[in-house]
Formats: sequence, C-alpha cells, structure tokens
Amino acid sequence: MSSKKIVVNKSLNLRGTVKVAGAKNSTLAILAAIVCVGEPCIIENVPDISDVSLMCRILSKLGVEIDMVGKNSIKVDPRNINLTCANFDEMRHMRASYYLLSALLSRFGEASVAMPGGCDFGLRPMDQHVKGFEALGAECETVGGITSVKCKHLKGGRVYLDVISVGATINTMIAAVRAEGTTIIENAAKEPHVVDLANFLNTCGADIHGAGIDVITVNGVKSLKGATYQIIPDQIEAGTYMAASVAARGNILITNVIPKHLESISAKLREVGGEIEYFEDSVRVSCSQKKLRRCNVKTMPYPGFPTDMQPQMVALLSICDGTSMVTEGVWESRFRYISELRRMGAKVSVDGRMAVIEGVRELVGTNVKSVDLRAGAAVVIAGLIAEGTTCIENINHIERGYEDIVGKLSNLGVDIKAVTEVPREKVLTA
Ligand code: UD1
Repeated sequence: MSSKKIVVNKSLNLRGTVKVAGAKNSTLAILAAIVCVGEPCIIENVPDISDVSLMCRILSKLGVEIDMVGKNSIKVDPRNINLTCANFDEMRHMRASYYLLSALLSRFGEASVAMPGGCDFGLRPMDQHVKGFEALGAECETVGGITSVKCKHLKGGRVYLDVISVGATINTMIAAVRAEGTTIIENAAKEPHVVDLANFLNTCGADIHGAGIDVITVNGVKSLKGATYQIIPDQIEAGTYMAASVAARGNILITNVIPKHLESISAKLREVGGEIEYFEDSVRVSCSQKKLRRCNVKTMPYPGFPTDMQPQMVALLSICDGTSMVTEGVWESRFRYISELRRMGAKVSVDGRMAVIEGVRELVGTNVKSVDLRAGAAVVIAGLIAEGTTCIENINHIERGYEDIVGKLSNLGVDIKAVTEVPREKVLTA
C-alpha cells in the first residue's frame, strides 16, 4: 500500500481566484433522500470528494443506479432498490449514511443500518433521531451496532428536539415527507444544508415549510417525483479559503459562494484584521495588516460560528497577537488535533471544551497528521504560514471533504504538492 502526503512550504501573499465546490453535507443528505423520492433525479454541482464516492458506493450496493452525466452532475435512479438492510463496511466510515434510516423507512416501511462512523469528536448519540422516528409512529432498536426502524404506516407527529441536531432534523424531515398528515419539528437545526435538503424535496413535490427557522412543518404527500437540482456551495470550504487568505496575508476572490452563509466567519476574520468584501456570489478576502489581532470564538449551531470552522480558526489565531479563547459549543471533544499544531510551535492549552491560544510570532514546519477532516484543513493553513516545510500525513481525511485542495491552493500561488510514498519493501521487491 502507498501512502499519500501533502507537502507545503511557507507561502504568503495568496493571489488569484478559487471556485468553491458544492456542499458536502447537502450532497450526502440529498443523495440519501433520493431513496425516498423513488424516481430518478439529476443532481448538479456535486463535489468530487471521497465522502460522495463512498455514499455512491453504499447506494449502489442497495441497488441504486448512479451515472455521471456531466463534470459535477450525477443521475441517481433509485427505482430498483432491492434491500432495506444497509449493513456494509462503508457505512462505518461516514456519519451521513444514517440518513438511509429515514429514506428507506419512508419508502419501504423498514430499514436496518449499520451505525455510522465519521470524525471522532467524542460521543455522537442518536437519541434525538430516535425521538423523531418514534414521534411518527416508528419502532426503533439498536442491536450489535445495527439500528433498525420499522413502521408500515408513518403518521405525522410533533417533535421537540432537546438539542439542536442537524442529523436529527434531517432524518425527521425525510421520514415525515411521505407520512400521513403533518409533522412539526421544533428547535430544528437551521444550517444551510437543512434548507438545501428541504428545497430539494419541495422540488420533488414535498410540502415543507420553515426550513431555516426554528420550527419546520412537513405536510406529508402521497408520492414524490424525480427532479433536477443544483447543490448549494460549501460554506465550510469557502470559510477555509477565507481563513487561509487572512492567515497568509493574501488577496483572493472566492467564487461560487452564498455570502449570507459566511457572515459569522466573516465577522471573526474581520476582528483579527481581515478585509472582506461581498459580491453577489463571490467574496474577496484580503489582509494587509502586519500584525493580526486576537479574538474569542464560540462555536454554535447556525447562524453561529460553525464548529466545522473551529480548527481552521485556531490555526489562524495561533499567530495572532495576544491570547484568544475558543470555546467548542457543539462537540464535547473536538481539540484532538491541537497536539499537531503544538508540534509546529503553536502555544495552545486545552481545558475541556475551551482552548486558550497564546499567539506566537511564527510557526515552524514539521511532520504532522491530519487527525480528522477539518483538523486536516487546519494543518494545511498552519503549513502556509509556517517557516520551512510542513509534511501532512493521513490526507485521506482531507480528501473526504475538500475537492482538489492541492490544485486550488497551487492556483493561488501556494507551494504545495501531494506526494505518494511507496513503502520500502515494495521498492526492494520491485
Ligand atoms: C452535522 C455535520 C457536521 C457538523 C455538525 C454540527 C453532516 C454530515 N455533518 O453533524 O459536519 O459538525 O452537523 O454542525 O451534516 N446530539 C445529541 N443527540 C442526537 C444527535 C446529536 O445529543 O441524537 C448532539 C451531538 O452530540 C452534538 C450536537 O447534538 O453535541 C450536534 O450534533 P448534530 O447537529 O446532530 O451533528 P451531525 O448531524 O452528526
């Protein structure tokens, strides 16, 4: 087996244009939801990332036909699904595979799904998903790592989510879309991809109101029809390039974005000294300050500062003047990557859900690991601003959610490449 690494050299003054891909989290939810639509759909602006390939593999195993019909467009035909039990190894590598629970339940009245993996941020419970399914009349049980849901005739109900959960909101919405009567989801998540999924389902004939506010109402419909739908741009990929531009004192245009989705990120980047200008579907991010300023950040559900931007922000704050505090308000354990930044000279201490970052004058390149998807993006940003060379291992995590990050950063003038290391024994026997 060969292992791929990213090698990045200090590269200030990023210049040029970078185009953001379609949103990972929207795509994964929409691909799963097509199972409950039951008819062929064409999805455009699909990001070329490994999580999407994984979801396509899982769907194929269920009997869904998937064809590329354009560079970033796929045709998904779920008519010949022949399984309601998705117990494949692939499921364990991706959190979003649990959307198949609601999608299969809605279409076939039952589903069994292997418990998902994804990034390790500590406990990732599913009690709110279960609450949603039960409110619609389903019976749920988890045995030996497999969750099963069953209900021959789903009926609309009222669900109050005890915690704001993207996954539970989406699973309940999908389960409710063809249930009899009306479902009300209170304290719903408002993330852009929740809204994108609702828009997709409405394009297919669903009757969903309120996505993007706290209370979502789903009036069940008898059937749905296939549609062509374009995925929204990825908020987190855009935010990552924004943070990179500020950290590396760049001046770049980021295209294919929805500026409204970037407000909390822009607010914090302005606080540290970045300049951000919004256009209709692009944003210019520059920074001409010699010294960047500290700031405090607390991650929260949308429209708060996204937890998926927390590691990238910590990488930036590690070279800001003064002491910053970052509080993780969503996940109990999302600072595992700090040890990698410390290896590069960052001064960060962690106490529970809070990281205290004492800004240093510079970071120093060394060998580091990408411990999860966004942590990988954080070490890439750190690599841009660190003296010398940074060599990043385990980049499969980064490839899960960033389309061609090496090509995109190279276009912005970054000295970066992906290298494949062939193990020694292979060289000797070749
Ligand atoms: C989604 C995103 C992930 C992002 C997260 C928060 C996808 C594929 N992933 O994850 O990138 O970091 O939203 O914005 O869209 N919780 C419960 N019980 C539940 C479900 C969740 O207590 O049944 C808690 C979790 O432990 C966590 C919080 O709710 O503390 C948020 O989780 P949730 O919004 O469900 O995250 P995901 O949908 O898994």
